[in-house]
Amino acid sequence: WVLMATARAPTNIAVIKYWGKRDEALILPINDSISVTLDPDHLSATTTVAVSPSFKQDRMWLNGKEISLSGGRYQNCLREIRKRAGDVEDEKKGIRIKKEDWEKMHLHIASYNNFPTAAGLASSAAGFACLVFTLAKLMNVKEEHGDLSAIARQGSGSACRSMYGGFVKWTMGNDADGSDSIAVQLASNTHWDDLVIIIAVVSSKQKETSSTTGMRESVETSPLLEYRAKTVVPNRVLQMEEAIKSRDFASLARLTCADSNQFHAVCLDTSPPIFYMNDTSHRIISLVERWNRSEGSLQVAYTFDAGPNAVLIAPNRKVAGLLLQRLLFQFPPPPESELASYILGDKSI
Ligand code: DP6
Repeated sequence: WVLMATARAPTNIAVIKYWGKRDEALILPINDSISVTLDPDHLSATTTVAVSPSFKQDRMWLNGKEISLSGGRYQNCLREIRKRAGDVEDEKKGIRIKKEDWEKMHLHIASYNNFPTAAGLASSAAGFACLVFTLAKLMNVKEEHGDLSAIARQGSGSACRSMYGGFVKWTMGNDADGSDSIAVQLASNTHWDDLVIIIAVVSSKQKETSSTTGMRESVETSPLLEYRAKTVVPNRVLQMEEAIKSRDFASLARLTCADSNQFHAVCLDTSPPIFYMNDTSHRIISLVERWNRSEGSLQVAYTFDAGPNAVLIAPNRKVAGLLLQRLLFQFPPPPESELASYILGDKSI
């Protein structure tokens, strides 16, 4: 017999960034962060986990290709979920798995993400959130979403925030074992559903410095990072929570842009400096800044993660439409580009 479970988890975009760990193994951050979870129809991971007495070892396939599960991050997630597994019964199939049996049972995991292949967008947040959630479903783990987020966090920090929709805060926590470093939902996905997020794919190349390596180097060498984590982010998080609660777009936009710019300033302050944005990214920032200034109010926010692609947030569909016009006027896409259709709107989020 084979027993299976399937689930889907979307990716999230940080408006207050996580950058820097105080514990590398447990993935504990040096500051709180806040993100918005995207609609699962666009950028998400779908994972199926199967268990069968005929399986001889844990195995995993990512987008159809087998990958190694030997890395610490996968092992941590699998171990933590197995510890919490419950009894599972399927009367129709005559299957009974007692909770202590899960330690001996092997799993086959297949995960796909629907990210456009050429887009080079990170998928680890959706991937680990989905893996943990699907394992929990199959193994009848009774833990709340918050506790599951602490397990997903051990796969990739930003993954803990994909455990919820809407706006989500990852509280850094204080405990050495990381049990209070969890995600909490600030507002559901219906709270502010006028917002439109557009991802302008600037380059589909894989980034040169991974987030994991980049933040380690920043922690070791950037004096600005400590100032940011201790002095700037705590206030910004409070202001962002207020902006989300009151659906105050101007404040959301101001804080989002400022936080993205400071995160990239930290990258420049790292030795050797890390350049995630390129000329096109800078031109997009100028376009948005000029537009916001000419209107006398904030129309659009931009934010960039560990790469050159722009994530643009508009307050509604009308402004998003105008933004697309401006982007396409300044950056006419090559006709054969798969990314062009992504920017063009049918897949805008
Ligand atoms: C710039 O979560 O990918 O996107 O915890 O080492 O897996 P690890 O890093 P990761 O870092 C994300 C960094 C960021 C900002 C953010 O999402 O908050």
